[in-house]
Amino acid sequence: MIERRDPPPSAPPVGRVVATEQKPATPHQFHFWTANETTIGIGAIVRVEEGRGAGEGGRVVYGVVTDGFAYSDLATPLHDVVGAEGDPAKAADSPTVRQEIRLWTAAVLRQTPEEPLQPVPLGQVHVATDVDVAQALRMDAYLGGAQPTAIPVGLYTSGGLEAPVYVDADFLLGPEAAHLNISGVSGLATKTSAVEFLLSSIFQHFPPHKGRVAAVCFNVKGPDLCFLDRPGALDDEDRRRYQRLGVAPEPFQRVRYYAPFKADGVNLNTLRTHPDLVGDVEPLVWGLREVLDYAEVLLNRDDIDAKADAFIDFLADRVVDKEFEDGFGGVHRVVTFADLERLFRSIFDGLELASRGGDSWRTHHIATIRKVRNRLANISTRCKGLVTDDGPSNDLPWGRFDDRAVYVVDVANVDPLGQDLVFARVVSQLRERLERRDLGVEAVVVFVDELNKYAPADGPETYVKKMLLDISERGRYLGLVLFAAEQFRSQVHRRVVGNAGTLVFGRMDADELATPGYQVLSPATKIKLATLPIGELMVRHPHFTQPIFVRFPRPAVLRGRDGVERYPPAADLPFEDAVVRQLVKLDRRVRPNQIKDVIADRREEDVRRALAHTRQTRPQDALAHFRKQLGGRVAAAPAAARESVPPLNPISDEPY
Ligand SMILES: Nc1ncnc2c1ncn2[C@@H]1O[C@H](COP(=O)(O)OP(=O)(O)OP(=O)(O)O)[C@@H](O)[C@H]1O
Ligand SMILES: [Mg+2]
Repeated sequence: MIERRDPPPSAPPVGRVVATEQKPATPHQFHFWTANETTIGIGAIVRVEEGRGAGEGGRVVYGVVTDGFAYSDLATPLHDVVGAEGDPAKAADSPTVRQEIRLWTAAVLRQTPEEPLQPVPLGQVHVATDVDVAQALRMDAYLGGAQPTAIPVGLYTSGGLEAPVYVDADFLLGPEAAHLNISGVSGLATKTSAVEFLLSSIFQHFPPHKGRVAAVCFNVKGPDLCFLDRPGALDDEDRRRYQRLGVAPEPFQRVRYYAPFKADGVNLNTLRTHPDLVGDVEPLVWGLREVLDYAEVLLNRDDIDAKADAFIDFLADRVVDKEFEDGFGGVHRVVTFADLERLFRSIFDGLELASRGGDSWRTHHIATIRKVRNRLANISTRCKGLVTDDGPSNDLPWGRFDDRAVYVVDVANVDPLGQDLVFARVVSQLRERLERRDLGVEAVVVFVDELNKYAPADGPETYVKKMLLDISERGRYLGLVLFAAEQFRSQVHRRVVGNAGTLVFGRMDADELATPGYQVLSPATKIKLATLPIGELMVRHPHFTQPIFVRFPRPAVLRGRDGVERYPPAADLPFEDAVVRQLVKLDRRVRPNQIKDVIADRREEDVRRALAHTRQTRPQDALAHFRKQLGGRVAAAPAAARESVPPLNPISDEPY
């Protein structure tokens, strides 16, 4: 896999290790000098050979440069000032040029032999080649052999030399270690781009013996991940880097988009609504059942309430989808939020009418019941379009995940509460399915951008935060892998970043670098991080003893910003047209006017319900099915009774 580009045998050394009593060489650090003109810089990888050169069988040490010094033989600055008679202009005229040296500090990456571990010998220093880089970063362990597990991550570049750097799939995606965290300032750190590139590298290099892999990406910011299937602009340098890394510069082949509806229940709440593209956006629609299963999300945001939890469990286990007697003579079959509201009404009315008005029902206190009703009403109003009352839900293809497919879940414009619900449900489903081995793939990368919002270092213990912690701590055994990005790592929960096996940094903020999390870095490395150019990253990976700088090419997909320019989002369609568009998507033979005739004068919720049912059933003849679901015009009459259920006011828990 790695190109064997050994240096010419006579490649001269670029430096020599020095050790003094003040600055001795240790098993983990050494110093070396070079000529003043040198290609060595911070982050350069070097090879030290004991004795006079290669082939003598001595100790070989690989190191990475972490600091550099320049000085002359002057004892103090005062000598220079006196020599120039206090005039800086004269300093350059001095008859003798002072001896000046370049001294570098390097951290040891690897020693061969590894045992016994000894101080670095005072040997010759060479710049590293491809093969040296592979040795230095211990990549030889996973680059070759019968089952290589190497995933290209970028090019190590120094002094005109360039070598591909690979991470180990066993340590990036489990089971040995897992998870990736990337941080850096907005716009310059290329966090989202780096994850996009790495995902395509994973899809192309995921070792066959590890099985199938898919990615679930939450789009939380504008159009960021809405065009992953469209090619983006690359320059020649990008293409060359792709080639050097052995990755094909192509957009993702299999991308499925999911987005909830807007409040009208028919227009999709995403920026991928251009007529050419909207065809492959599936609606994400959940009903009462889906919400109730994750209702903890709603409660744990601001309070932990065991009683409310118990009542929600009672509803989920005993009430929903079953014949249920309310104890006041009414029988209910609760399927939708509206049905549930009817049940609540009967309970409150029943309790009021009962003599001496008891304040509990089936051991649940009326205050608890009110609270739960309030929260549920709250989510169905705040997340209208995601949470529906109109018929069946539409969800990710659980159990039928495709190999090397990306599932983009667009929650960028969803209320925070709804976002939490989507995270909770999607991730919990992934976890359960992976545990049971019936997801369709063996490993899933979950990409969460803006992690500081979802797993902040402080703030309440929300359900979503607990869940992200759970993936971080246990996901690697299951093949559930978290790739997360944020601007400031210090603002993310310690255990979430702490469990990331691979850490990547783009251009960093100087204040952030001053926080305790970066104490292990040398001052020079911090300066490099604070001034890192676009497209360059610092990578920490379990196999690498020290952080390594790499360059990566632009992702081969259309940037979100460019995507909305090339494919401007369509204006929201009027209700009728939106229904037409969705039915035509299901069955191309359907003619718009036929549909318009069928839905003329019909109530919108009935149309939505019939549409949802048609979408779920995917019948041969969509129009006939839709018409049948809509029923005869007379059928609208009993449905009208539902209108008597007033929408709830989420604040006061009373009807508006
Ligand atoms: N490898 C690269 N080489 C050169 N430019 C790049 C590279 N990768 C990304 N860029 C450019 O850098 C810019 C910022 O990238 P990106 O949106 O990924 O940053 P970000 O860190 O995710 O920012 P934010 O915090 O705002 O989300 C983009 O305009 C992109 O085109
Ligand atoms: Mg970003």
